[in-house]
Amino acid sequence: MGITVTPLGKYLGAEVNGIDICTPLAPDDVATIEQAFLDCQVLRFRGQHLTVPELAAFSAHFGDLQPHVQRKFQHPEDPNVVEMRNYDDDGNFDLAAASRGSMERLRDGWHSDLSYDSVPAKATLLHALKIPDRGGNTVFTSTHAAYDSLPDAMKKRLSGLRAEFSYGGNTRNKFTNLAANSLDKASRESTTVIHPVVCAHPLTGRPAIYVNPLITVRILEMGEAESDALLDELYDWIDRPEFQWEHEWRLGDTLMWENRGGSMHCGRIDYPRDQHRHMIRTTVSGQPIEAHVTA
Ligand code: SIN
Repeated sequence: MGITVTPLGKYLGAEVNGIDICTPLAPDDVATIEQAFLDCQVLRFRGQHLTVPELAAFSAHFGDLQPHVQRKFQHPEDPNVVEMRNYDDDGNFDLAAASRGSMERLRDGWHSDLSYDSVPAKATLLHALKIPDRGGNTVFTSTHAAYDSLPDAMKKRLSGLRAEFSYGGNTRNKFTNLAANSLDKASRESTTVIHPVVCAHPLTGRPAIYVNPLITVRILEMGEAESDALLDELYDWIDRPEFQWEHEWRLGDTLMWENRGGSMHCGRIDYPRDQHRHMIRTTVSGQPIEAHVTA
């Protein structure tokens, strides 16, 4: 049996079956997955338990792997693999660690990975090693669908606008600093960049809202009050349930998601605090994104 791709959400998400991701992939299979990735933005592979080297090897089929900017999150077995766990070395719940990419309120936490880098990530792969017995889902919103459904007047207003993105410097969102507070000064400075408010995906050209509540600081072309109001309006828009698809984790699940426009994500911190959630993650390097400009 060959690879099958079954859509999951209305606008994004698909499950990929008929492939063993623990072993090297044939070029045709990589091409099939790449196409499904462009079409669906988020892919799910179920029931395959990966080691750290297996996750790294599977991820490397899709491009170069990029280590996390903070060395302390790099996995001791492989710096290209990131440790994501919600507990400290004594096994106690650690809110700062749990908040890396996850929030109690999704509206505060939507983001795409490496939006604080001049070259955003192509893909993130996340594999579950320990999950709580309820909660801790990862939720996705289609920022292609969110952009497409904006009124024309708003599309015109957004055309050509640029925004500042910063990992450790987004004072609009008090939750961002929970996850970024251990960044040193050099890392803070190297993680402040300018991107378009609306981007065109570098391969498909499809427009997407790119500003996000976790990392975006301000829109450059306007004063603070106007920028804050417009960003809030856009964040309310991308937060609308009709654009979302929610993944409920099972052990052995691997997700692969898009970060170059079209998809944003956020994990939920809604599980019992005495339960462990432990994931391993890789980041596949991307390419610069361009602005989408309306006629
Ligand atoms: C992330 O944003 O990389 C983490 C999402 C999650 O843990 O569900």
